[in-house]
Amino acid sequence: MAQAKTFAVIGHPVTHSLSPRIHSFWYECLGLAATYTALDLTEENVVEDIRALARAGFAGLNVTLPHKLAAFEASENLSDAARLIGAVNTLVPRVNAKGQRTWLGENTDWTGFLWSLDRMISQLPEEVVLLGAGGAARAVAYALKSRGVTLLILNRTPEKAQDMVQELNLDVSRVTHLDELPDLARTAPLVVNTISLGHSGGELMMPMTDSGVFMDISYGKAADATLANAARSGWKTEDGLPMLIGQAADAFHLWFGIQPDRDAAIELIRSSR
Ligand code: ATR
Repeated sequence: MAQAKTFAVIGHPVTHSLSPRIHSFWYECLGLAATYTALDLTEENVVEDIRALARAGFAGLNVTLPHKLAAFEASENLSDAARLIGAVNTLVPRVNAKGQRTWLGENTDWTGFLWSLDRMISQLPEEVVLLGAGGAARAVAYALKSRGVTLLILNRTPEKAQDMVQELNLDVSRVTHLDELPDLARTAPLVVNTISLGHSGGELMMPMTDSGVFMDISYGKAADATLANAARSGWKTEDGLPMLIGQAADAFHLWFGIQPDRDAAIELIRSSR
């Protein structure tokens, strides 16, 4: 029998990650000889640790916070998207000209987001309101740019959003302070929230809407309060689980060349909450 391929998600902390469950579920469904674990790597020497995992024979890695930049640095090659977004969430093994096992750094957060967007909205509006300008916002902005939409960006630190606009060459109608959310979101058809308020116990208050869609890229407890507020104000809401499953499926496809069942994985996670 062929030796099982080994995969992992790296992060710090990483015990909360849903990736081992999602990928192991797909291995089981498809009868693949593979294992997927979670590896907690501290920030000390993390770039070298990631390179060592390529040499150790890992068949692929997913990368979660705070190591997406370290994974970028540890990659011998980068996809165009990963280079522009400035973050790597998926590592694919490559053998270089010297016969050494190295990593190709990919980013599937943006394609995962597009998949979740397409499930939610059939016709994209010309302008989308984007909340936040951190690492996750860059993947979302890159994805929305690929669909040709104009962005109205709100962030606590508008200068950071301006930097993101320049670096990603985004088409924007305005960049402003998050304080303007109540005024600017009222008539927006689509708002995407990448601000990680829920992780520190905070929540975002959305103004009333008639028919707006509100997507949060967080899921679970981190997103619950904000999504409940938005729903009470009339927003049709979606959490970040479909984006998470989408990025996992695109990573899976890079490793195996197979598209796994995304809806079954969403059902698996939702039914166990
Ligand atoms: P991630 O990788 O999850 O995007 P990040 O790069 O730290 O994390 O970005 C966090 C985002 O949430 C940023 O847009 C940040 O705003 P600043 O650019 O002003 O730092 C935003 N954010 C985090 N905590 C916030 C808070 N308490 N109030 C408002 N915005 C907050």
